[in-house]
Amino acid sequence: MKGIILAGGSGTRLHPLTLATSKQLLPIYDKPMIYYPLATLMLAGVRDILIISTPESLPDIQRLFGDGSRLGLSLSYRVQTEPRGIADAYILGASHVAGQRSALILGDNFFHGSGFRRLLRAGWEILDGCTLFSYPVTDPERYAVGDLDERGNLVSIEEKPARPVSNNAITGLYLYDADVVEIARDLQPSARGELEITDVNQVYLKEGRAKVIELGRGFTWLDAGTHQALLDAGEYVRMLESRQGVRVACVEEIALRMNLIDAESCHRLGAEMNNSEYGRYVMSIAGSFV
Ligand code: G1P
Repeated sequence: MKGIILAGGSGTRLHPLTLATSKQLLPIYDKPMIYYPLATLMLAGVRDILIISTPESLPDIQRLFGDGSRLGLSLSYRVQTEPRGIADAYILGASHVAGQRSALILGDNFFHGSGFRRLLRAGWEILDGCTLFSYPVTDPERYAVGDLDERGNLVSIEEKPARPVSNNAITGLYLYDADVVEIARDLQPSARGELEITDVNQVYLKEGRAKVIELGRGFTWLDAGTHQALLDAGEYVRMLESRQGVRVACVEEIALRMNLIDAESCHRLGAEMNNSEYGRYVMSIAGSFV
């Protein structure tokens, strides 16, 4: 099982924030944005992850995580020289996927909700082609929009439709079987010159092999691609963390709880940041872990 985080793009909707910094390293409250998709892949049981980003941003992301071994992960990196669309991740990532099933997540997608790990497990269990995740939104025209039958099979999908058939946005988390690489290679660029992930999903849909898991009310999905959404995500995390005393997407804690690292290594990671509340939280989690 492989993973890919696509952290490319120039983040123009966030200018001037992203003139000199990568979008995925901007803060969502107490940690860089990319921690959140990384945490999602970890919860999905993925250990071997390729991070794709721009030539400017990739060295910074690499400095943040290194080879991933400190978190019990195996991380590799690949440059995307120009934004060629989301499905390009599978052209750049073909050798990484190496004939296995894979999860792709966009670097600005934020998921949070109780029972998420169980939903992700269900996503792998029902996987025969692709498993997508939908979420009801008030502005579906900004996303891919899916229509589902009562059994969770995808009936139609359209990228940024002018007249959406439903309010089910298809989120930026995708589980695929090994065929995705061939499908991506056969794609034609869309009118905007990109290899669209929605076109990949269309192929699976035509084969009757596209399933959707609905993330319902009580679940939070945000894409932190605009100033407002970035602030909303930060405020959401701040509120939850200060109210409950927990940390959302604390990758050190997830690594510990998923037995990727032991308590001693986790404590060491926290101690390196002991001047911040985040670092002290990591130390306290490691200390209380039996
Ligand atoms: C992309 C995808 C879209 C998906 C969205 C989720 O859109 O093309 O299908 O619904 O991510 O965040 P973009 O954010 O690149 O406009």
